[in-house]
Amino acid sequence: MRSAPLTLLFSAILCAIGCSDSGGDGGGQTGGAGTTGGTGGAPGGTGSATGGTGGGAPGGTSSTTGGTGGAPGGTGGGDSSTVGTGGTDAPAARTPAASARTLREAGENANPPILIGAAISGSGLNDNGYKSVAAAEHNYVTAENEMKWDALEPTPGSFSYGSADNIVNWAVQNGMQVKGHTLVWHNQLPGWASSLSGAAAVEQAIRRHIENVMGHFKDRIHTWDVVNEAVITDSDTGVGNPRMRPSVFFNALGERYLDLAFEIAREQDPDAKLYYNDYSIDALNEKADFVYEMVKGMVERGVPIDGVGFQMHIGPPNNEAGGPDVAANLRRFADLGLEVLISEMDINRCSNQVTAEEQLTYYHDIVEACFLMPECVGITFWGINDGRSWLNGWSGALCNGQSSQSLLFDDRYQKKETYNKVMDALLGR
Ligand code: G3I
Repeated sequence: MRSAPLTLLFSAILCAIGCSDSGGDGGGQTGGAGTTGGTGGAPGGTGSATGGTGGGAPGGTSSTTGGTGGAPGGTGGGDSSTVGTGGTDAPAARTPAASARTLREAGENANPPILIGAAISGSGLNDNGYKSVAAAEHNYVTAENEMKWDALEPTPGSFSYGSADNIVNWAVQNGMQVKGHTLVWHNQLPGWASSLSGAAAVEQAIRRHIENVMGHFKDRIHTWDVVNEAVITDSDTGVGNPRMRPSVFFNALGERYLDLAFEIAREQDPDAKLYYNDYSIDALNEKADFVYEMVKGMVERGVPIDGVGFQMHIGPPNNEAGGPDVAANLRRFADLGLEVLISEMDINRCSNQVTAEEQLTYYHDIVEACFLMPECVGITFWGINDGRSWLNGWSGALCNGQSSQSLLFDDRYQKKETYNKVMDALLGR
């Protein structure tokens, strides 16, 4: 199930899979990863949704430690200022900070920087211990529930922003970026939206929701999960009969609801980063293959998608994924000219399906897999402390009243060994 990969092994795997020229039409090529470091290529185009025609030159010659390789290709209409990857100085591999007191500092001082995120709950912000750890250790925020459709549009066309504004304003005050989560999702819909039918009514509801929500947060939120979890398999682990998930959106509009949602989002904000987000697509499994083909089709059709979030809920009820598999999987999506990010990471210890030792190895190796890729722009953990984890109360997580022990801090906000493993990976250790 698990292996103990070394940094060099990752480099070799990444190189074997994708350190040669890539980036498709219009994207710039990532730079070579050379022993002494190549001098890298020019940046890719910034133009159209799929990267336009401005392909960058290939990076330097192949190597082990990476040189000053070419910038990743343009990935769509927005600029890349929000997350700070790309640009002419983007190296072929990320360089760690020399030292850091917090995860946030380790992310900010890496080159290129990498966002360190957490899912934040409104109730958590009533707790001073929670708030201070959240702001000290992270610079990227996802509202755990407060920006979902049922919270924001409880009745048709009538919007309720109070709880979401509290989180977003707190994040901005603390110098943190926010990812909007999530514009179109089958779950946590208000009753009126779940019972919509007919293509025209569903399309109108999607349009009104996206326009209103993105308009409200336009000055404060520049990255969005546009569509969440559109694919399903027979098992939550990503195995068996992958297919489009039946939902009010899919049932009325078919697969084109994804294109529609991204197109409306792009109309609202030409500079925002627009992501597709899903669970149990973290390793090389059937669901990940299906999502890869789905996203590839979107890129080829010119749909304005900028990246893919890999939720990285590891352990029951979701998949397990070791570092090398994650690296190979992220690499193939990045080679479509997309950003990738770990968007909801936690590792569930309930029922001992993931042992304590495996949990530490997974935390280190999965964070390392993302960190080594400049195209991997952020790592978000799905919560702050174990006691508040969603897994504790989710029957599929097999906790039976026990703590999932799934996060980086205990309930007194003390760092756990999982924290140390994440810090090691961010510092290249
Ligand atoms: O707010 C009500 C409360 O009033 C009520 O008393 C209580 C009784 O059950 O329920 C509360 O709502 C719960 C809500 O979380 C807020 O705590 C819902 O029952 C519960 O279902 C909901 O769970 C959330 C889950 O999404 C729903 O699908 C989790 O907190 C949240 O962490 C989880 O997040 C999702 C991501 O958005 C998408 N990816 C998977 C991830 C984990 O499931």
